[in-house]
Amino acid sequence: MKILLTGASGLLGSAFARSAKRRGHQVIGIHHQNPAPSSDLAQTRTLDLTDLNALEALTLEHFPDAIVNCAAISEPSACEAKPTHSRLVNVALPEKLALLARHLFATLIHISSEQVFDGTAHIYHRDSPPSPPNEYARQKLDSELRVHELAAEFATTLRLPLLIGNSPTGTRSLHERLFASWAAGQPTPLFTDEYRQPCLADNAADAMVELCERNDLKGVYSWAGQKTLSRYEIGQRILKHFGLPETLIQAAQRGDDPRFAHRQARLSFDLAPLASKLKTQPQGLSDQLDALIVPKPYRPWYHSQ
Ligand SMILES: NC(=O)c1ccc[n+]([C@@H]2O[C@H](COP(=O)([O-])OP(=O)(O)OC[C@H]3O[C@@H](n4cnc5c(N)ncnc54)[C@H](OP(=O)(O)O)[C@@H]3O)[C@@H](O)[C@H]2O)c1
Repeated sequence: MKILLTGASGLLGSAFARSAKRRGHQVIGIHHQNPAPSSDLAQTRTLDLTDLNALEALTLEHFPDAIVNCAAISEPSACEAKPTHSRLVNVALPEKLALLARHLFATLIHISSEQVFDGTAHIYHRDSPPSPPNEYARQKLDSELRVHELAAEFATTLRLPLLIGNSPTGTRSLHERLFASWAAGQPTPLFTDEYRQPCLADNAADAMVELCERNDLKGVYSWAGQKTLSRYEIGQRILKHFGLPETLIQAAQRGDDPRFAHRQARLSFDLAPLASKLKTQPQGLSDQLDALIVPKPYRPWYHSQ
């Protein structure tokens, strides 16, 4: 299958390229400011995806069987700071991809976020009403609505949780950010009252490849890991995996700092609607941690410990 992939240089996009290659697919990967892992891609193309005309030309040049959208401005603070620009990537881009998928009769896999929920429910189900609490989440929800308005019969949206994994730059995922602050000499506060259901990017990518290969799973689904844990517990498990001292992470509460008081308390998901239909299954945290390596930029610091 020929697949056009946006965000090929990112945490999830690079994992998708690996997984799709293993399954024998031919992936054309679009990146922008960072390099994409060319060994997993049939072709790499550099493109600013806010240029929708250039995107259309590239897509029509390749006539893909599937389009996978992993490009995003995924940092909530960047969306708050520059809502107009981030909307171009987070909403206008998926809208355009939906139109292109419909035109080509191609499958579209679009990526959204757990953040569309406000974190007040004990568990979110497929039909739970979203209630986006910040600009990033509003953009993600708007993208879902537009994609499924424009290309309902071609599109699957996956709402993903906190992702862990090894990114190409070694700077984007949870453990990579923790290493950055530890290497800078900053023990990190993590919340004991903020619960997430993390997922390894490679596991989400395997599910996405299956969704490209299937034609019967359109609509919006959540995907995550098996277990919901506090950020503090997740951080401690990461320390243990790398044999680092517990003191590098301090227990904190969201209310300790007014900047974080608004963050969602608990984002936990019923995965059965998709897990019951896929071969790929949600992973426990131990299996996810087994895949993590010391990020390249922080190896000198790690080996000096
Ligand atoms: N990471 C998480 O914990 C998490 C959680 C839930 C949902 N998600 C969602 O998962 C998806 C993938 O996230 P990620 O963590 O892989 O993000 P990421 O590592 O930050 O990657 C973002 C990708 O988007 C590309 N991009 C951004 N602006 C672009 C532009 N103007 N033109 C072309 N490419 C552009 C980047 O390209 P360059 O780097 O080459 O510029 C990069 O490849 C996103 O939809 C995100 O919202 C992520």
